[in-house]
Amino acid sequence: MFKSFCVATVLIAGSSGVSFAETAAETAAETAAETAVERGAYLVRGFAGCGNCHSPFGPEAISKELSGRLVDKNEAFTAIAPNLTPAGRISQWSDAELSRAIREGIRPDGSVIGPPMPFAMYRGLSDTDLNAIVAFLRTVPAVESDLPPSEYNIPLPPAYGPPVETVADVPRGVTVEYGAYLAGPVAHCMECHTPFGPMGPMLETDLGRGGFEFPGPWGVSVAPNLTSHADGLADYSDAEIATMIVEGKRPDGTGMTPPMPYGFLANMSQDDLDAIILYLRSLPPLPDVG
Ligand code: HEC
Ligand code: HEC
Repeated sequence: MFKSFCVATVLIAGSSGVSFAETAAETAAETAAETAVERGAYLVRGFAGCGNCHSPFGPEAISKELSGRLVDKNEAFTAIAPNLTPAGRISQWSDAELSRAIREGIRPDGSVIGPPMPFAMYRGLSDTDLNAIVAFLRTVPAVESDLPPSEYNIPLPPAYGPPVETVADVPRGVTVEYGAYLAGPVAHCMECHTPFGPMGPMLETDLGRGGFEFPGPWGVSVAPNLTSHADGLADYSDAEIATMIVEGKRPDGTGMTPPMPYGFLANMSQDDLDAIILYLRSLPPLPDVG
C-alpha cells in the first residue's frame, strides 16, 4: 500500500558549507569527547537523513533546514513532513514526548504519525542516539513555515508496536552488529531495500532483497537486491559498493537516481561506511523477487 511513496533527494545537502569534520570522530578519544548535540548533528545531517523528507528542496534545504515540506501525494495519502525547527509545534513538546514521536510515531495528543516516516526502523534507535537527535533538533535555527496537515485515505494503525521502554547502545566499531544497527534503525537502508508486505517491510523473510519501486520525476527507481547473492552485491568490490552508497555512482560511471539520500550518506565516517558494508556482506543470499 505504500508502494508509490516517493521522496526526492536533496542532493546538495551533503556538499553544503556545513562541516561534519568534528562530528565524524575517528579516534576513541574524540568519540568520548563528542557531545550529544554533535552526535545528533552527525546523525540528522548524515545518514539518518531526516532532511531527506523534512527539509525543503533546493538551496532552501540549507537556509530553511528541517522546516518541513510536502513529501508525497498519491492515492493513499498526501504526506507533509512538519517543521522540526524550534518554530514548529514540537517546541512545545517535552524531550520525552518528542522522543516518543520519533521512535514510536505517537504524538503527545495520542495521534499516530503516518507514513512514509520509517517507524519499523526508528523503533530500534538507541536511547543515546535518540537523545542526541532530540538535543540537536533543539539547536537548529528556528524557521517559520506554514504547511497544511497531512491527509491519509488509508487507516493508520493504532500504534507501530508495543511501547518501546529502552534500547541499549550497540558498541561502535567496524562490526557486523554495528553495521546492522546503522543500516537499520539509523539510516533505514533496509526499509527501502526490503520488499513491502501488508504489514510493512518483510524483514523476517526477505531482508535486503530489493524490489521496492519509487516513482518520481526521475521515472521509476527500483531498490536493488543488497544481499550476498549473485543478484545482489556478490560481484561488486567493497570500493564499488562504497562509491554507490556515498556518491550515487555505479562502477560504469553512470549516476544513480533518487530517493536514496546519497548527499546525506556522504557525511558518514569511513568506519561507519565500512561497518555497513561488512553488514551487507553478511546478509544471507536471496535471489531477486519474481
Ligand atoms: C521518508 C520520509 C521521512 C523521514 C526520513 C523522516 N520523517 Fe519525520 N515525518 C515524515 C512525515 C510525512 C511526517 C508527518 C506524518 C503525518 O502527518 O502523520 C513526519 C512527522 C514527524 C514528526 C511529528 C511532528 C509533528 O509536528 O507532528 C516528528 C517529530 C518527526 N517526523 C521527526 C523526524 C526525525 C527526527 C527524523 C530523522 C531521524 C525523521 N522524522 C525522518 C516523514 C519523514
Ligand atoms: C529512500 C530509499 C532508500 C534508502 C534510504 C537507501 N536506498 Fe539504496 N537504493 C535505493 C534505490 C531506489 C536504489 C536504485 C538507484 C538506481 O537504480 O539508480 C538504490 C541503490 C543502492 C545500491 C546500488 C546497488 C546496485 O546493485 O545497483 C546500493 C549498494 C545501496 N542502494 C545501498 C544502500 C545503503 C547501504 C543504504 C543505507 C546507508 C541505502 N541504500 C539507503 C533506495 C534507497
